[in-house]
Amino acid sequence: MRFLLVVLTGCFLLGWTAACSDSHVDETERRVEELLQQMTLAEKIGQMNQVNGRQLDEQMLAELRSGSIGSILNIEEPSLVNEIQRIAVEESRLGIPILVARDVIHGYKTIFPIPLGQAASFNPDLVELGCRIAAKEATEDGIRWTFAPMMDVSRDPRWGRMAESFGEDVWLTQVMSLAMVKGFQGDSLNNPEAMAACAKHFVGYGAAEGGRDYNSTFIPERQMRDVYFPPFQTVIEAGCASVMTSFNDNDGIPSSGNKSLLDGVLREEWGFDGVVVSDWASVHEMVVHGFCEDDKEAARLAVNAGLDMEMESRTYIRYLEELVAEDKVSEAQIDEAVRNVLRMKFRLGLFEDPYLRRYENSSAYAPEHLDAAQEAAEQSMVLLKNDMDLLPFGDNIKRIALIGPLADAPHDQMGTWVFDGEKQHTITPLAAFKQMLPSEFELLYEPGLSYSRDKERNGFSAAVEAVQASDVAVVIVGEEAILSGEAHSLADIDLKGAQSELVAEVSKVGKPVVLVVMAGRPLVIEEEVKLAEAVLYAWHPGTMGGAALVRILTGKVNPSGKLPVSFPRMKGQIPVHYNHNRTGRPARGTEVLLDDIPLEARQSSLGNTSYYLDAGLRPLFAFGYGLSYTKFQYDDLVLGASEIGVSDTLNLSFTLSNTGSRSGWEVVQLYANDPIASVTRPVKELKGFKRVWLEAGSSQRVTMKLPASKLAFWNIDMEHKIEVGAFNIMVGGSSEDGLEGRFWIVEKL
Ligand code: NOJ
Repeated sequence: MRFLLVVLTGCFLLGWTAACSDSHVDETERRVEELLQQMTLAEKIGQMNQVNGRQLDEQMLAELRSGSIGSILNIEEPSLVNEIQRIAVEESRLGIPILVARDVIHGYKTIFPIPLGQAASFNPDLVELGCRIAAKEATEDGIRWTFAPMMDVSRDPRWGRMAESFGEDVWLTQVMSLAMVKGFQGDSLNNPEAMAACAKHFVGYGAAEGGRDYNSTFIPERQMRDVYFPPFQTVIEAGCASVMTSFNDNDGIPSSGNKSLLDGVLREEWGFDGVVVSDWASVHEMVVHGFCEDDKEAARLAVNAGLDMEMESRTYIRYLEELVAEDKVSEAQIDEAVRNVLRMKFRLGLFEDPYLRRYENSSAYAPEHLDAAQEAAEQSMVLLKNDMDLLPFGDNIKRIALIGPLADAPHDQMGTWVFDGEKQHTITPLAAFKQMLPSEFELLYEPGLSYSRDKERNGFSAAVEAVQASDVAVVIVGEEAILSGEAHSLADIDLKGAQSELVAEVSKVGKPVVLVVMAGRPLVIEEEVKLAEAVLYAWHPGTMGGAALVRILTGKVNPSGKLPVSFPRMKGQIPVHYNHNRTGRPARGTEVLLDDIPLEARQSSLGNTSYYLDAGLRPLFAFGYGLSYTKFQYDDLVLGASEIGVSDTLNLSFTLSNTGSRSGWEVVQLYANDPIASVTRPVKELKGFKRVWLEAGSSQRVTMKLPASKLAFWNIDMEHKIEVGAFNIMVGGSSEDGLEGRFWIVEKL
C-alpha cells in the first residue's frame, strides 16, 4: 500500500446503529480527503465504475492497474478475489482496493426462505440472524458488499420480484429491512465478517404498472412519502452503507437521473453519506427510456443527480472526463461521488485487509447455519386451512402418499436469486420424510408431474394409486424458482401446467388432502383450497425447507407464520392489499354478488359499494392471516389513556389466551386508522406486532406501545404531521378482525 495506513481503533458503537466516535469519523474523513487529493481525474472516475467480473481477462487486468475500476460484481471464483485485490493494491498507482459485490439476497450457501417468506415469520430477530449467517459465509469468499435488502413495498403478485420483497405493508417492510441491514452489516462495517448492505430499489419499483417488471410507475408524492420512502429512510438513519437506484421512471423521470430524489431526498433531507449505485445499466437505459439522447447525456444527468457509481454500462468511464472538460459536470461533483465510494471502502476496512478470509475453512452449511435456516423456514410457513384438525398427523395416519412436482425439487425449493446455494445441500420434503419419519410410517412417493409447468398426465394414475393405498395425501405444488424473481412477471398466477388437475384427481380419491404450496408469490388457489382439508403455504423455503415442513406436518413444530401479503381470489382482483384508502362507498358486507343480480335489473348501483361483483368483498386470505394448531383468543383490551399528546406513547394491553391443547406462538398485530383527516387515509395500517409464546391453556396480559409519532402522515399541505383528533385501533391475529378501541391525540395534555 503506497500511502499511510492508519490502524482503526477506538470505534465505540452506540447500540449497533450509531456512528463511531467523532475522532474516528474525522479520521476516516481525513483519510478520504488525503487520498482524494492525490488522485487524477481519471482515477477518480475509475472509482465510480463498477464492472461485471466473471473473468480476469486482459482488459480487466489493464483496468485494475490503471485504477479504472472501483468495484466488481459477480466474481464467480472466490480465489480470483485475492488476485484482483492484489493487482489493485500492489500494481495500481494509489493501491486502492476493490469493492467486491454480489447479490446475496436470502443466504449465500445456506439458503433461507425467500424474503417474502421471511416476512411471514414476523420475526425480525430470525431475519437478522439469517443475514448475519449469509454475511459470514459470503465474506469468507471475499464479498463485502451485497445488493440487499430489497425494500420495495409490493402489492401486485404478478410482479415476479414480490418474492424478494417483504410484501404489501409499510411497517413490516421497515422492520424487516432494518433487520436485514443489521444482519449484513453487524455491529461495525469494519468487522471483516460484515458486508455493506444496499437499500434497493430507490424508489417505487414495486409499483410497476400491471406488475410487469421494469415498467413505469405513477406514484404521487404523498403516496411516495407515506408508502415507498419509509423503509429507505429507516435503514439510512440506521447506517445502511449504500442505496441502489431503481429501473423504473416515476411520472416520467427515471430514478437514475432524478436529482430531486438522489441529491434532494437522500442527501439533503436524510443526510445520507453512503454510496448511491445505479442498477445494472440503468444509466444507459435512460437513453432507451427516451430520457436522454445518448450515453454521454445519460452520464451527465446521472452524475449531476448524485449517482456515485455506475453498474456495468460504462458511460461514466467513457464520458465523464470529456464532460468535465466541457464544463458540463464539475470536478467538485465528481469529488463528492468519489468521497462516498472511498468512505465506504475505509469503513469496510478494505485498506487494512482486502483479502479473502479462511477460504480453506469455510463455515458454509455449518450445522448452526442449517439450524437457523430450518427455524426460519418453520416460522415462515403459513397454515391457511386445517379442517377437522387434520394437521398435525394423528395416530391414525400411518401411510403417507407424497405427491406433486415440488415434493423433491432441490433447486426450485431454494427460490429466486440464488447464485451460490448448491442444490445437493437442499433437504427436500421427500428427503426429510425419509430421514425423519418414525419407522412405523410408510411413505409412497409419486410426484404425478415432473415440474411445475409439466402438462404430461402420465404420472397421474400412479399418484392416484399411491393415494388410494394411503391414509393421507400430501400434495406439494407451486412454481419453479425461475417463475418468480427479476424479469419473471406473470399475467396469470394460477398453478401452472397440469397441477390443478393433479390436485383434483388426487382429491377425488376421498382421502384427506394436505395441499402444500411452494411459490415465490401468492398464487390464485381458491379452487385447490376447496379440494384440500389442510393448506400450508411454504413459499420457496430454502435449503432446509423439507425438514421444516415435515416437522410441521408431524406436529414437532406448531406453525406460526402470518401472511405478509393478501391473497386474491382471482387475478382481476389485484391489487387487493388490506391497507387501501377509504373510499366514499366502503364495503358493508351486504352487497349484491353476481348471482344475486335480478334479471333485467334497472340501471342503479343496487346499493353496491367498491368491490367486484364476481370476486366478492374480500381477498381469499387477508394480510396477517395464519392459523395455528392451537386457538388464540383476545380479550379485555385496555388503553393506558383515552387521550395522549403528540409526543406521547399510548400503552395498551389485552389478554391473550391459548384455548387449545398445544403450545404455540401467536403473532399479535396492532392496527390503527385515522378516521378523519385532511386527506383520505388507509382503512387500517399495521403499527406494531409481537410474537408471543403461550403454553396450552395459559393466558397472558400482552402489552404493546403505540407512539403517537407513528400516526403522522403527509397531510394536505405536504407536511409530515400527526393530525390531532380521534384514532381507531385494533389488536388481533390478522388484519381482518380483532379487539377495537379508540383514543384521542391532542397537541398537549
Ligand atoms: C439487477 C437487479 O435489479 C438488482 O436488484 C441486482 O442487484 C443487480 N441486477 C445486480 O445483479
